[in-house]
Amino acid sequence: MKTLLIVFHTGGVKTARMAEAVERGARTEPGVTVIVKRCAEAGPDDLLAADGLILGTPENFGYMSGMMKDFLERVFYACEGKVNGRPYALFVGAGQDGGGAVNSVERIVTGLRLEKKCEPVIGLKELTPDILSKCEELGAAFAAGLALGVF
Ligand SMILES: Cc1cc2nc3c(=O)[nH]c(=O)nc-3n(C[C@H](O)[C@H](O)[C@H](O)COP(=O)(O)O)c2cc1C
Repeated sequence: MKTLLIVFHTGGVKTARMAEAVERGARTEPGVTVIVKRCAEAGPDDLLAADGLILGTPENFGYMSGMMKDFLERVFYACEGKVNGRPYALFVGAGQDGGGAVNSVERIVTGLRLEKKCEPVIGLKELTPDILSKCEELGAAFAAGLALGVF
């Protein structure tokens, strides 16, 4: 049984709804245990115990949210060198852009030697059923990749 950790922050509701959709998709895969935590609740032990990681953050001021940065700062040195090659994916709730949040997360997780396995899902403007479907597909595809051992 593989373990998938989903860690997210929301300042409102959008990224939380996206996280629910990612979780829903991931739970369609029976071979994977799915754990969902807010950034503030998650720490190095959660990441060390996970076979794969999906991160979710709003874009704030052209960057990931402060809470996501706090999570990554808290886990970085505790996990550096211990999670090399593990797969990750990302979803971002944004207004007009989202690219700054993607770049900022990718730079840090690359330092952790995590490997990107799916393109990020960026939810711009209003949350639509299409964005939620993309989140669900992300969760399902990522969990299937973990379960099948293709990552
Ligand atoms: C303080 C603040 C800064 C923001 N900065 C950006 C930004 O740089 N780029 C962008 O596309 N949206 C920006 N937004 C919009 C949010 O990313 C967007 O509303 C997002 O959906 C919020 O997700 P949440 O409801 O999960 O908190 C900002 C919102 C806030 C409150």
